[in-house]
Amino acid sequence: MTHYLLSLDQGTTSSRAVLFDTQGKLIAAESETFSQHYPQNGWVEHDPNDLLQTVLRCCKKLIEKQQIQYEQILSIGITNQRETTLVWDRATGTPLYNAIVWQDRRTTAFCEALLSAEVSTLIADKTGLLLDPYFSATKIRWILDNVPDARAKAERGELAFGTVDCYLLWQLTAGKVHRTDATNASRTMLFNIHTQQWDSDLLALFDIPASMLPEVLDSSAPFGITTASIFGGEVAIGGMAGDQQAALVGHACFQQGMAKSTYGTGCFLMLNTGDKPLKSNNRLLTTVAYRLNGKPTYAIEGSIFMAGATMQWIVEGLKLLRHAGESEEMVKHVPLDHGVFLVPSFTGLGAPYWDPNARGAILGLTRDSGIDTIVAAALQSVGYQTKDLQKAMEKDGLRPTVLRVDGGMVKNNWVLSFLADILGAVVERPQITETTALGAAYLAGLQCGVFASTEELAKLWVCERRFEPKLDAAARNCLYAKWQHAVAQVRL
Ligand code: G3P
Repeated sequence: MTHYLLSLDQGTTSSRAVLFDTQGKLIAAESETFSQHYPQNGWVEHDPNDLLQTVLRCCKKLIEKQQIQYEQILSIGITNQRETTLVWDRATGTPLYNAIVWQDRRTTAFCEALLSAEVSTLIADKTGLLLDPYFSATKIRWILDNVPDARAKAERGELAFGTVDCYLLWQLTAGKVHRTDATNASRTMLFNIHTQQWDSDLLALFDIPASMLPEVLDSSAPFGITTASIFGGEVAIGGMAGDQQAALVGHACFQQGMAKSTYGTGCFLMLNTGDKPLKSNNRLLTTVAYRLNGKPTYAIEGSIFMAGATMQWIVEGLKLLRHAGESEEMVKHVPLDHGVFLVPSFTGLGAPYWDPNARGAILGLTRDSGIDTIVAAALQSVGYQTKDLQKAMEKDGLRPTVLRVDGGMVKNNWVLSFLADILGAVVERPQITETTALGAAYLAGLQCGVFASTEELAKLWVCERRFEPKLDAAARNCLYAKWQHAVAQVRL
């Protein structure tokens, strides 16, 4: 009987189920998109049922097409859009409100009112994060303050909070298990990354009852067993990590100094800093990269809110292309220094600016600017934003020499060649670009003994193509200076 590892990857715009064999080879994948809800300016919500049902339908399709029995699935790994916040009734499993998505800015005013040097230091020292609506804490508080009876129910211990991993685990185990992993916990702004515990000072600061919180396990751990009705029999869930951390694992960035960047909805550059949580002086985040055998490994992270989402806007909003895949052919003759800059601060700017009030702009248009120039500027904005993160890391004394990349946008060779040029660094694309799902499968595989160690996993990473920088330093600096000028315009 052939055995497999199954990854469930619940992302911001789609859910995926991905099947790997016990050597980490990709066998098959299914994916499904779901609706985004924007009830007000700056608000972003998902229907919790959409998140669950798209995951379940992907699993069903995958298993039927591959004709797999539940006994062949050795373990499941769950990976997810991080920070997105759900609160549900423990008795019924019914969510009190839609999932408030990580991109949602509704708590900006609350964050601004709470901000003081003392609070910033408290949060940064304990969680490695910055006070921003991005993280879960203020979203939980919003639900408690705005949904009728929510706070009273929470105080009676009737409500559970979870990020998407935790909500899926609850649903897959028919409400038996309320757990998360250390990587997801580290994005809530309620978790002390040094003690690896929920923090009572932070719970008091945000007025959140401790009874709502899940138990925190390693990223590779016996999380639970699925209820038999889902796969026709019980299957163990052995791996769990936020999607960016799972991608770091999937890229086998297990050594200090190794870095990866994932170009999904947003872009997340993460550099492994080993067993010490390194503090950034340049507004980058300190986060748990993974926790294995009770030992946390830390990372420095730069988070950008708009990468693939910018292309989604180009395709669906402006209708300049039928699909993002057409962009490479369209821009290949556009010179890099065409002079147009698209700053995609549609929902504010993430690292290293953390400016929730900035809004998007296209600057430098001339009469000869065409659709191809605007598409090129959109694609280049991803490279420029990565450069912003690289600069901030450099100021913190960190310089990854090689960057491993994944996510939907990395199929585009023009994007990766520009990325190498603007960073002045080698960019490596792996053979398996389903890196997030692969990381979750690795974590599940470590738990059930399919893989013995991270050293074994490191040997499985295979480069498909290296992109070397070709642009000279003067041209690079000139382009980047113009980008910085464009960013300054949207922050006025
Ligand atoms: O922090 C948010 C991040 O986890 C979302 O990832 O891949 O859904 O854009 P993605």
